[in-house]
Amino acid sequence: MDQLLEKIEQYKQEIAAIGNQASETLEAYRIKFLGTKGIVKNLMTEMKNVPSEKKKEFGQLLNEFKQYAESRYENWKLELESNGTSNEPGIDSTLPGDPIPVGSRHPISLMRNQIISIFQRLGFSVSEGPEIEDDFHNFTALNLPEHHPARDMQDTFYIQQNPDWLLRTHTSNIQIREMEKGQLPLRIICPGRVYRNETISARSHCFFHQVEGLYIDENVSFADLKQTLYYFVQEMYGKDVKVRFRPSYFPFTEPSAEMDISCQICGGSGCSICKRTGWLEILGCGMVHPNVLTNCGIDPNKYTGFAFGMGIERPALLKYGITDIRLFSENDVRFLRQFTSAT
Ligand code: PHE
Repeated sequence: MDQLLEKIEQYKQEIAAIGNQASETLEAYRIKFLGTKGIVKNLMTEMKNVPSEKKKEFGQLLNEFKQYAESRYENWKLELESNGTSNEPGIDSTLPGDPIPVGSRHPISLMRNQIISIFQRLGFSVSEGPEIEDDFHNFTALNLPEHHPARDMQDTFYIQQNPDWLLRTHTSNIQIREMEKGQLPLRIICPGRVYRNETISARSHCFFHQVEGLYIDENVSFADLKQTLYYFVQEMYGKDVKVRFRPSYFPFTEPSAEMDISCQICGGSGCSICKRTGWLEILGCGMVHPNVLTNCGIDPNKYTGFAFGMGIERPALLKYGITDIRLFSENDVRFLRQFTSAT
């Protein structure tokens, strides 16, 4: 009995001396004192060796010791929890980690990728070309010879050092470069940045983005053009969208048309976005002019083709409800952060 009491006294001192806060030590403590083969349990089994007249006294002492060991355990645990469960003192590993910033895609990129993926499903492949272009690929080859009045349709930035160089006014230069390669049939989609000398405002900018398309093969007809573009707008704007083609003029296509879709804001009943017409103009298109084919070494008696071109900014404004085109190029992260990287 005395030996046992002495032991209990030693254990008490041992417990009182524990100062280390590491959770591993807490667990070691639990196993050592409170585990199924621990000290408390061991002392309990000693009960049978205690003379019966002392059992009550010993039992009380043992109970006291057990409560002491348990309360030390509980307090210790609480202390660790309020500090976090870290192995290192003072570090709270329950705090959320520092998030790794994930960028978001630019709304123009999102729009471009969406347009491209629709045409890719129709078998178009992506081509790109230079933004600094010579006069031939931007104008002359597209049936816009020097002094042609239609050159004024697109106010051009020329490169000072060489009057033959300019910033491309459309991505049609890519189409010329692809046709020159002479590999037919050709079915390409040409995204890119283009430049025009226009006053910067909420509605227009001196640079913007386009996606143009070109399909050249034997027996390509205007019906193919209409069906391709109809598929595109249905994929882009939903099955209920209405389209109309209006006759137009481009030097590089004949016949030429502009395509409108029913206004996505008011559904066609007329609003300020569609200027009360119920229609939004989204692209220009037409059958590739025979002169353009000839300029690129393609026999217009054998091959025909269609082309179309659309801006990316305007549909992006509509889609995201943005009212100022300048936001796209100001790199304000508060603006850019709002776009997810879903596509
Ligand atoms: N290149 C024309 C533009 O930039 C768009 C277009 C392309 C029109 C192809 C018809 C055919 O305005």
